[in-house]
Amino acid sequence: MAEQGSVRSVREVLAGRAEAEVTVQGWLRSARHGKGVSFLDLYDGSSFDGLQVVVDPDLENHAEVAALGTGAAVRVHGEVVDSPGQNQPLELRAKTVTVVGGVDSDYPLQKKRHSFEFLRTIGHLRLRTNTFGAIVRVRNAASQAVHAFFQERGFLQVHAPIITASDAEGAGDMFRVSALDPEKPPRAADGTVDWSRDFFGKPAFLTVSGQLEAEIAALALSNVYTFGPTFRAENSNTARHLAEFWMIEPEMAFCDLTGNIDLAEAFLKHVFAAVLESCPDDMEFFAKRIDETVIDTLRHVIDSPFERITYSEAIEILERADAEFEFPVKWGVNLQSEHERYLAEQHVRRPVVVTDYPADIKAFYMYLNDDEKTVRAMDVLVPRIGEIVGGSQREDRLDVLTRRIGEHGLSPEDYWWYLDLRRYGSTPHSGFGVGFERVVQFMTGMANIRDVIPFPRVPGAAEF
Ligand code: 4AD
Ligand code: MG
Repeated sequence: MAEQGSVRSVREVLAGRAEAEVTVQGWLRSARHGKGVSFLDLYDGSSFDGLQVVVDPDLENHAEVAALGTGAAVRVHGEVVDSPGQNQPLELRAKTVTVVGGVDSDYPLQKKRHSFEFLRTIGHLRLRTNTFGAIVRVRNAASQAVHAFFQERGFLQVHAPIITASDAEGAGDMFRVSALDPEKPPRAADGTVDWSRDFFGKPAFLTVSGQLEAEIAALALSNVYTFGPTFRAENSNTARHLAEFWMIEPEMAFCDLTGNIDLAEAFLKHVFAAVLESCPDDMEFFAKRIDETVIDTLRHVIDSPFERITYSEAIEILERADAEFEFPVKWGVNLQSEHERYLAEQHVRRPVVVTDYPADIKAFYMYLNDDEKTVRAMDVLVPRIGEIVGGSQREDRLDVLTRRIGEHGLSPEDYWWYLDLRRYGSTPHSGFGVGFERVVQFMTGMANIRDVIPFPRVPGAAEF
């Protein structure tokens, strides 16, 4: 290996922050071999741009270098010089080129545009492409921004469990976690599987949300947030659903629905602004190649207040709308993606927060309004994506919550500790969940959520 001290990232070299003579290492995004001189585009993931490496014919192993193709791993030692070319300010004049890992001739990534469908079939290589490098860097910056936002406000990060026995959404679409032998599970007298003899002594699942545990923490520590993987076993084959996605869930004690919406608005604006600031090259790429409106849209969102309307107002707007909906609209129905997008794209042309949904279409834990028909729910809807945030003020009255759990066909015994919180120092409290991938999708303009997470998990696909 080269002396690590002198190894620099491409990012440092391009920014002029490296020595006059440096070592860089990475993979070739392309190799052009002209008469004598070779031009290598060396990429190490540290920045959107690669580093142009110029290799003269008098190099000792020039023949070996002249045979290098896209995808090879190399280490180059050389001199950083001003580039005579148009495309880059600096380039590296190679003094030595070490071939660290050659590449077979059937390397599937060539210097041409591949479809995202094709790239999904080579998940082990697609992170080397422009688009997926940019996605990983934007995700990284957004993740940093999430923590910075909450830390600046004194929120404590709480690690919610991934394996759980409770259904946080009461919707039943959970993946089972079991250590039983599926061929011969222990059975009760009536022939059903005896889950009490499973690993946890009861049925267990992958969590759909860390909310219930976040509530426990908020009612002890005031302001908290989780940021972890969550799982949904719903069979939704859409461009905005994953079976495994990352969710950020703040929870605040002594906070009502309005405070909750204010936080969600400030949160999204903070993350968008931070990514625009820290990933300008990647964002420029998304604007150039994926969706030309993406940067302007983010700036517009950062600069304008979110519209706030009630569900009932939303239904009136949709009933009056001059649009053909596949799913008919009337008070009481769940808003479909086409309705959410109409509201955000056509009606207000920026994010809109819809509140006070019918109790029957929302989860059991939401605070019941005095009308007994609606709950203090809020969804943030954005153009192109629809729902990006879902949250609520929580039901903190023991009697109402017990009743609501029953009305949802759930059993209060399963939620005994959740109900306990309403007996021991209960306070109004609120929180929301924001899907990290939907945020990244919105920021980058990527059409399919499978292309904003390195390793998507969707029905029928868990390769890589
Ligand atoms: O609206 P959801 O289901 O709300 C909850 O899980 C609450 N427990 C959150 C809370 O109040 N703490 O999910 C929240 C957000 C959605 O708005 C969406 O952005 C994202 O999570 N989401 C998904 N993202 C990708 N794939 C899926 N299948 C998703 N389901 C929800
Ligand atoms: Mg929701």
